[in-house]
Amino acid sequence: MIFRQLFDLKSSTYTYILGDEETRDSISIDPVRSQIERDLKLLQELNLTLKFILETHVHADHVTSASHLRDRTGAKTVYGSKTNLKCADILIEDGENLECGNIKITALHTPGHTNGCTSYWVDNKVFTGDALMIRACGRTDFQEGSNEKLFKSVREKLFALPDETLVYTAHDYLGRMVSTIGEEKKFNPRLGLSQTLEDFIAFMEEHRLPYPKMMDIAVPLNQSCGKMEKEEFEITPDELVPETGNVILVDVRGAEELKGPSGYIEGIVLATLGEDLNSFLESANPEAPYVFICERGRRSALALFEARARGFQDVKSLQGGMLYWRACGK
Ligand SMILES: [Fe+2]
Repeated sequence: MIFRQLFDLKSSTYTYILGDEETRDSISIDPVRSQIERDLKLLQELNLTLKFILETHVHADHVTSASHLRDRTGAKTVYGSKTNLKCADILIEDGENLECGNIKITALHTPGHTNGCTSYWVDNKVFTGDALMIRACGRTDFQEGSNEKLFKSVREKLFALPDETLVYTAHDYLGRMVSTIGEEKKFNPRLGLSQTLEDFIAFMEEHRLPYPKMMDIAVPLNQSCGKMEKEEFEITPDELVPETGNVILVDVRGAEELKGPSGYIEGIVLATLGEDLNSFLESANPEAPYVFICERGRRSALALFEARARGFQDVKSLQGGMLYWRACGK
């Protein structure tokens, strides 16, 4: 089997490509939206045909490229049945097998991080998503997370696999790439065999993490396999890139927000929604082309309607704002 482990530096996400040497059919596990060109190039270089896109769960920290990869390759998207996602081509059941050339994948429902979490077991490897991580596990404090369910999933399902099974996770923040079931049984400080359910719950309660900054955009987007419905008045990040020199970019956020993690696009005019924007529009040329930008795409839509009301014709709003712009790798 052809096997590649890929990494997205920004979200610390691992994407995996599995290919059958003989038929050249292949699978991608947890692909990232901003890395779609990298992944497509690799598939082409390895002469692989993408048949399935497997997601371990609905991610909160990055946007999936599942729907875009499907559009460009014809591959089918696969999610655990408990995600109930309408955009999935296949909702796979616990214990169900999927065949891709000579590769046989068994789905193992491993809820707890989210209710729809699914691990994929292939030969001597298991792809655990955020259920079991190397010396760690995914958080359980949102997306229907449950300490009890995660403990049960790991201890009863994943730890039932042979000790030598290689564990490949969706993330690692310390540069570790692979573990084994045997190692995690021994050394996982949260879920290892020396820990009880009570120990695990106490640990998770003590180690609360801040709200993930991508969550508000990533979860709703990932629930539609990473595709954002486009409104008539919007321009997508992909469409805006070649246009940046031809349009006037008006960022309608507050000046402070520009210093935040989403940053801003070079060459913008800052006109904060409200009085600032109103005075900008009063002196601006209504014949010129404008694109309004904000953090998530809501305030920029309001700015656009304000401009339209004043007779501006050639106006667009950046779809999904700066958060989506970043998620698309711009
Ligand atoms: Fe996750």
